[in-house]
Amino acid sequence: MSTTPTEARGSGRGKLILFGEHSVVYGKPAVAAGLPRGARAVARPAGGEARLVLVDGLGDDRAVYTDTAPDPDGEPIARAFDAILAQFDAPTPVEVEVTLDLPIGVGLGSSAAFAVACARALASFYEQPDEVEAAVEASEEIFHGNPSGIDQLAASYGGLFFFSRKDGIESAPIEAPPLTLAICQAGPAAPTSDMVDGVARLMQREGQLIDYLHMLIGDVSRSASNALAEGDWSRVGELMDINHGALCALGVSTAALDAACHAAREAGALGAKLTGSGGGGCVFALTPQGADAVLEAWEARGLDGFEVTIRSD
Ligand code: PMV
Repeated sequence: MSTTPTEARGSGRGKLILFGEHSVVYGKPAVAAGLPRGARAVARPAGGEARLVLVDGLGDDRAVYTDTAPDPDGEPIARAFDAILAQFDAPTPVEVEVTLDLPIGVGLGSSAAFAVACARALASFYEQPDEVEAAVEASEEIFHGNPSGIDQLAASYGGLFFFSRKDGIESAPIEAPPLTLAICQAGPAAPTSDMVDGVARLMQREGQLIDYLHMLIGDVSRSASNALAEGDWSRVGELMDINHGALCALGVSTAALDAACHAAREAGALGAKLTGSGGGGCVFALTPQGADAVLEAWEARGLDGFEVTIRSD
């Protein structure tokens, strides 16, 4: 007979879409990576009812949620925790403390990182390893409605990968040398669904032209996965700039995102683009020589960034 452990841990990664956002919704390929930052969870027996303690690893804020009948209009994170917990046969109440080392809601996959960390800790706590995937899906549906699956993949496995959802989800790892990037939040994020709807409306008005743009972005993703595998950074940078230009044409960039990209290129980045659904949120820049100059240029404009190194494994 199994015994409930006193403590169990799990972790999940954030994600960065390097190429192909929006066009991936229309069956074109994308390239994404797991971030070295993400979420860490610890599950322990709770004295009373089950509860979630959320710790902001970038500040010191803590928030506590209990699981019992969360308000359907309440905080999505409380409902997501409830949905995750519901996937497990949970004989003993549990407290899960989740520490998030990512800015929330800016397109870096904080919700999937949260779900994967939480589900893995609970799976280990209750010794039910098969429930992780369904628990993460249940949580992601609460945050995103109709998630493409790219965040879940990156949060679970990390690495650098080619992704397509044309005929079901296909993904393949890209074996590339370590990739050094600078990332910053250039403005408040817009809801993903609003941005996706905006592209759909543009397609109704300009169907053929927008099809060309999606095709171009798909070709950029294919070329980029080869250039990444070869460590051909100047080509990767050029393709990032082309992809950003196409995203501008799709109407999802903003003056703040464009300015952050220009500042990064002027500071020596080989390329820069927005990541995720746009309308605000994050940009990233390719900095194989190190991110300091770009981070300083952003700081001079009041933008707080950080350096990451993406590794294929
Ligand atoms: O901003 P995010 O992390 O929600 O990224 C959305 C990416 C899109 O391609 C715009 C939508 C999707 O489901 O892939």
